[in-house]
Amino acid sequence: MDKINFLKAEIITTVTREKDYPKTDVPEIAFVGRSNVGKSSLINCLVSRKNLARTSGTPGKTATVNFYNINDKLNFVDLPGYGYAKVSKVEKEKWGKMIDEYLAKRETLLRIFQLVDIRHKPSVDDCTMMDWVRHCGYVPVVIATKLDKIKKSQLDGQLELIRGTLKLDKDSVLIPFSAEKNAGKEEVHAFINEIYSEAMQYEDSED
Ligand code: GTP
Ligand code: MG
Repeated sequence: MDKINFLKAEIITTVTREKDYPKTDVPEIAFVGRSNVGKSSLINCLVSRKNLARTSGTPGKTATVNFYNINDKLNFVDLPGYGYAKVSKVEKEKWGKMIDEYLAKRETLLRIFQLVDIRHKPSVDDCTMMDWVRHCGYVPVVIATKLDKIKKSQLDGQLELIRGTLKLDKDSVLIPFSAEKNAGKEEVHAFINEIYSEAMQYEDSED
């Protein structure tokens, strides 16, 4: 099967509610994580563009559900972040609802990539999100962002801390990543190609 060309990326739409989700039938990968963890930056890095998804040093940048098509084969979905203290309660509830609604209802959702900052122990919100991912029936996939911000000597310890806190077993995918340094990009590409071709095989065998 042809490899996905990640350079062929375009925005499909930006929405706030389910009835406006695009009616596409390609598989989707959603990116979830705390505000400012680097979800939008990861998407930009994967497609080698600076500004396909909008990023900001101020947490709370992404406040909508954003759909991007990749090579007519699959979609990436950039969601608002959670856990940002300075957002109003009303706003938080609105975003929470947007995230939950998307994860619970999107039938084309193939996999959820949860992002955590490699420097920190995953928060209570991160653990709640991981539980929700499992509850929705998805196999956990974790990307540990901002790898460039730690020393090499800290890497194993931080990965251990993340695995332990999120209760990931040793076979669960956990990829250290840096959008700043393009580190882990090839690994994420390879993993997406792998799950995409698995999904396509499954679809073929259903026909
Ligand atoms: P929300 O949309 O608010 O939920 O945030 P987000 O998760 O989309 O984060 P975003 O991609 O906007 O990045 C937040 C900040 O972290 C920006 O200033 C990025 O430049 C920075 N950032 C993201 N990834 C990395 C990384 O790998 N290394 C470093 N050093 N900074 C990063
Ligand atoms: Mg964002």
